[in-house]
Amino acid sequence: MTATLSQALSHADAQLPKTIDALKELARIPGVSANPEPNPELAKSAAHVAAWMKRIGLERVEILQLPDVHPYVYGEWLHAEGAPTVLLYAHHDVQPPGRPAFWKSPPFEPEERAGRLYGRGVVDDKAGAAIHFAAIEAYLANGGLPINVKVIIDGEEEIGSENLGAVLDRYRERFAADVIVLTDTANLSAGLPSITYALRGIVVVNLEVRALDHPVHSGMWGGPVPDPLLAMCKILASLCDDRGRVTIDGVGTEIRELDAAQKKRLAALPYDEATFRKEAGLLDGVQLCGDGDASTYELNWHRPSVAVNALEAAPIKGASNQIVDSARARIGVRTVPDMDGRKVAEALCAHLEKRAPWGVQVKAEIDGAGNWWITDPQGPAFAAAERALKKGFGKDPVYIGCGGSIPFVEPFARVLGGVPALLVGLEDPLCNAHSENESLLLEDFHKAIKSAVYLYDELARLPR
Ligand code: BES
Ligand code: MN
Ligand code: MN
Repeated sequence: MTATLSQALSHADAQLPKTIDALKELARIPGVSANPEPNPELAKSAAHVAAWMKRIGLERVEILQLPDVHPYVYGEWLHAEGAPTVLLYAHHDVQPPGRPAFWKSPPFEPEERAGRLYGRGVVDDKAGAAIHFAAIEAYLANGGLPINVKVIIDGEEEIGSENLGAVLDRYRERFAADVIVLTDTANLSAGLPSITYALRGIVVVNLEVRALDHPVHSGMWGGPVPDPLLAMCKILASLCDDRGRVTIDGVGTEIRELDAAQKKRLAALPYDEATFRKEAGLLDGVQLCGDGDASTYELNWHRPSVAVNALEAAPIKGASNQIVDSARARIGVRTVPDMDGRKVAEALCAHLEKRAPWGVQVKAEIDGAGNWWITDPQGPAFAAAERALKKGFGKDPVYIGCGGSIPFVEPFARVLGGVPALLVGLEDPLCNAHSENESLLLEDFHKAIKSAVYLYDELARLPR
């Protein structure tokens, strides 16, 4: 071990309480990106991130402010002459907090309970930013980094990083790197370090069904007058079969078969159905959907899925016996190789319009699309990540896919000429990301920081 590496490790250990404090401070800012309108909390969150970057010694720190775009934050340290350049990614925006009554402590007042830190955004993805910052600080406080780093902290990941194209166009030359490291994915279980080699894509469509120009008495008019909400239910029900498998007209034949190496990798992973059910929060008697011939991991990571994310018609509280005039739903489809997001979105809209019963009026609008990404996790960068995670967690890492999406990965890896992308993170099955009582396992946070310190050291020796 070099002197700097051991100094950096001790520094990161000694600083851990301060790092956790800084993470808590950041987690107090409700940087919810859900609406594209300018949001002062995201400006505050970006300013806080920028201040943290400056404090640890990053240079050229800048809030990348494009008009009407939630701010990205950039910083760099490029004094490791001849060493590789690593682009580090995380996001500072967060999901809306959900139902206040379901939080055991307020979402934006981070609180430690039994080894976990609770609060909106703590694990998704403010811890991701904190991991990079703690590891960079550990080196810069001890003479310098063994690699060059460029740090980009996204401000609009949770709404699909819609302006990534514009950010890339404007700042492309600044982002050039030999490898990308993202801290925004999951560990298969707590304490088990995991490298993600695949992300699903996502297509979102908003559906509106209209039948009447005003709600009417369901007794006075029911029978001859069609119910637009039932019409919508019939349309939605056509999106999957009895086993829950996606059935959108013209979609599905383009799904790429797993090859032998991928199947072997999946089969090698630990899986226990009872644990999976418990972690997902499935109620008694509720069955797992699927195929019979595809494993749970294959269904979650390598097959498409569909969900109705939101539904609007009339609230039950204060409801009257009425036929509503209209109903709305938001539909999300997760895509996999080689599905074409744009085509899936168009096919979905056409499917929804075609299935409308009774001549009800249907409007289907595309609300966003992000690409899937998959890589063959081989070569020196992945080997370096394996060694670093093993040293940080004291356990051999596993390779996993991810049912979720990160829009940054595919375009960036492509624009940077197909450089390797190392995806790691702390979203374990108990973390409740996107739900109430989101939390971060602090023991794994510490291990992830140590792994990052080891990783920078390992990447310094990457053949170029
Ligand atoms: N960190 C997640 C991605 C993720 C999901 C990692 C599940 C590990 C497990 C990310 O913040 C996220 O939620 N992405 C969105 C992207 C969407 C808005 C385009 C998602 O997957 O819904
Ligand atoms: Mn995230
Ligand atoms: Mn998220």
